[in-house]
Amino acid sequence: MAAKKRASKKKAAPRDAIALLKQDHENVRGLLERAAKSSGERRSQLLTKIENEVKVHSQIEEEIFYPAFRDAVSKKDDRKLYFEAVEEHRVVDLVMPDVENGTDEEVAAHVKVLKELIEHHAGEEEKSMFPKARKVFDRDELRMLGEQLAARKKELA
Ligand SMILES: [Fe+2]
Ligand SMILES: [Fe+2]
Repeated sequence: MAAKKRASKKKAAPRDAIALLKQDHENVRGLLERAAKSSGERRSQLLTKIENEVKVHSQIEEEIFYPAFRDAVSKKDDRKLYFEAVEEHRVVDLVMPDVENGTDEEVAAHVKVLKELIEHHAGEEEKSMFPKARKVFDRDELRMLGEQLAARKKELA
């Protein structure tokens, strides 16, 4: 009982923007892992789920988090992270619609490459962009951005 209460309390606690985005990453990593190991109808269901999750995640980043990051950093090298991230989203968007096209072996290859693309992108955000964001935003700003992301995510779901 006590444990249950704690768990629900934890879920309701406000999350900062980075925690929210990282949780999305974990979720999609898990789905990709499962998709890479499955085939047929099961894989198809997982891919639909991945497509939806990635679409919403990329959109809230591009609408809210990325512009805030771009405007908060001053160094050219940090702005580069913004432009590269947008470009990686564009590549994922190009690949995504065709992921289920082809023979079983072709789809398996599509899934593997999509998985690598997304893992690379999420890894870059976690290794470069998010640590930088922790430096340029204070705790309240990250929390506010987190609220905006969560609200927009709800709208898009
Ligand atoms: Fe992203
Ligand atoms: Fe992300």
